[in-house]
Amino acid sequence: MPDSPVVRLEKDGEIGVIIVNYPPVNALGPGVSEGIIDNLNTTNADPSLKAMVLIGDGRSFIAGADIRGFGTGRKRAPIGQRTYDVLDASPKPVVAAIHGFALGGGLENAMACHYRIAVTSAKVGLPEVLIGILPGGGGTQRLPRLVGAQTALELITTGRHVPAPEAARLGIIDEIAPDGGSLRAAAVAYARSIAATRPLPRVRDKTVSADPAIFGAMRKSIAHKARNQKAPYYCIDAVEAACTRPFDDGIQREAQLFAELETSDEAKALRYAFFAEREVAKLPDLPATTAAHDVANPAVIGAGTMGGGIAMAFADFGYDVKIMDANQEALDRGMQRIRNNYATSVKRGSLAEDEMQRRLARIHPVASYQHISDCDVVVEAVFERMDVKQPIFAKLDAVMPPNAFLFSNTSALDMDELAAVTKRPDRIAGTHFFSPANVMKLLEVVRPSKASPETLMTAMALGRRIGKISAMAGNTDGFVANRSRAPFNSEMVILLEEGCLPEQVDRVMVDFGYPMGPFAVGDLAGLDIGAEGRKRRAATNPNYRKLPIADKLVEMGRYGQKTGAGWYRYETGDRTPHPDPDVAAVIKSLAAEMGVPQKAFTDSEILRRLLFSSVNEACRILEEGKAYRPSDIDVMWLHGFGFPRYRGGLMYWADGIGVRDVYNQIAAWHQQYGDRWAPSGLLRDLAQTKTPLREAKPAPFA
Ligand code: 3HC
Repeated sequence: MPDSPVVRLEKDGEIGVIIVNYPPVNALGPGVSEGIIDNLNTTNADPSLKAMVLIGDGRSFIAGADIRGFGTGRKRAPIGQRTYDVLDASPKPVVAAIHGFALGGGLENAMACHYRIAVTSAKVGLPEVLIGILPGGGGTQRLPRLVGAQTALELITTGRHVPAPEAARLGIIDEIAPDGGSLRAAAVAYARSIAATRPLPRVRDKTVSADPAIFGAMRKSIAHKARNQKAPYYCIDAVEAACTRPFDDGIQREAQLFAELETSDEAKALRYAFFAEREVAKLPDLPATTAAHDVANPAVIGAGTMGGGIAMAFADFGYDVKIMDANQEALDRGMQRIRNNYATSVKRGSLAEDEMQRRLARIHPVASYQHISDCDVVVEAVFERMDVKQPIFAKLDAVMPPNAFLFSNTSALDMDELAAVTKRPDRIAGTHFFSPANVMKLLEVVRPSKASPETLMTAMALGRRIGKISAMAGNTDGFVANRSRAPFNSEMVILLEEGCLPEQVDRVMVDFGYPMGPFAVGDLAGLDIGAEGRKRRAATNPNYRKLPIADKLVEMGRYGQKTGAGWYRYETGDRTPHPDPDVAAVIKSLAAEMGVPQKAFTDSEILRRLLFSSVNEACRILEEGKAYRPSDIDVMWLHGFGFPRYRGGLMYWADGIGVRDVYNQIAAWHQQYGDRWAPSGLLRDLAQTKTPLREAKPAPFA
């Protein structure tokens, strides 16, 4: 038998079972497609075999093409000789047996098979758009023929993973394998049952048509989200071709569009982001044998906005969680806020009523430390002041089991000072959630000096378990995400001193790809929050650059949306920001008072002033060993701050401009504006050696 190391053939009576074994997720890596084709040919030539099953070893069917191979100029089989074509043309029936994931090229191969059977827990989808390409293995032509154009458009432009039961309802899956049994046995039995059926059902032979208006409507509906990107539009073009052209023509069109996208800037950036998100989980300086504790019984201290959001994050992922606050009234208010948040999701249609009830039932308000003394993890999320948090940590240390982990949601305070009030500094770490905590994907795990490897692994794994992307940060003021973002936050207000308006800066950043401009975000979060941090920093750092305009607005009681006015003004009950002449007047008068010369700014100047300041700070963070990799900072910007994913992240984006240009500009602004723009030594070295920022080697983690 023509076994390759990655694909083998086993016989089960008159059924040939073709097994893909390319760990960990059976991507279509080197030799996989060839191995499938060889074994199909062998089986078709063997008169003792009547039908085939295509199945994956290990944890998945086939997770798609090997993403590492994209953009490398590797040779691809020509149309007509690809696995999809060979499967489709097979004279004997082939049954795809799906567990784990059938994604991208995996689902495309499955759709080229004659039948599909899946276990209930399997997920299928065409997520290519998420890496800036389109399904290039016939997916844009076969999926509409299976599920209709409208559903195919939805699935292909979002890339979402479809659970097997839904896929069966939609017609992607023919049969769900019985729970608890062997998928292989079920697939072989299925193959036996259809072995003699002729003609073979081929998806390509189905016809699909659609109201031409749906394509324009789809383009319109994605316009805001898909701005600056090509792939979502090309996906629509390809599905339109499926509805207007014969199958083979549609395949040609798909190939043409795919080739254009493969080497596009957005595809490169999105591939980078995909791998950066996986790298960030790796903690290279911890012993490889370190295991995470499997958290079973979490508690949250503090039922404010953050504490409530954290409790929801636990409940959303199946945890029973206790939530505690100092007094009953605060606890009741917190629970009411949680109920309101869930109710809003139900109203919006993103959460089913019964699921809301299940989640709410998992959140247990408790009034005293005694009630949480059996928990194995506590996340503290109380008021952001050391003198409030320290006594709580001392108390927790006294009441919690000695092996419980104590985590703090502080966004800036020194984690070593918190750990110092306990007798278990090795079991303490920061778990910094981003607001709203049940929505934002980033979890910054902050590493105090005495935290044990098990503690760090546990915090990282816990984050992933509740749907977060966990990223390790050093214990430095603001940690990594907020510290790298802080200069951006200052610079945006300093731009106002020099002649910009909030709405101008916001427009530039939205055009760049942020979902909201930074001033509008400030109004949403509350301007009083930033003011606290500024006061603290001004008190401890004599060189701290004050921001009189921001301070003035807070002084005027303009805290943002919650007071109906901040950087913008708001109509009652409406969150739309309206430019406010009163703000423009404050800016003008303070700028005049400070004697700052006024000028007009281009969009590019605004963008660079904000982002270069952060690139410089990110380099300082790396040279101090407070982050493992430049790409970790990119992941934090993508998932903590809404940086546009198709631009890769802060450092990746800056590499697109060129490290020398970035350095030269920063050096020029250093001359013009003084110390706050002093270039980091690491940035200077990178510029001198023309080393991309994303290849910077940080100091060992400190
Ligand atoms: N190519 C290359 N490597 C891949 C891969 C792929 N398609 N899918 C996963 N991997 C790698 C990951 O990089 C990771 O490697 P590492 O251990 O060295 O970091 C490893 O496999 C495990 O992946 P995850 O950590 O992501 O494992 P999870 O269990 O959390 O998730 C998954 C599994 C849902 C399959 C997720 O890996 C995933 O979404 N993969 C990408 C799926 C995809 O986009 N498929 C379409 C590819 S494009 C295509 O098919 C084009 C076609 O139309 C022609």
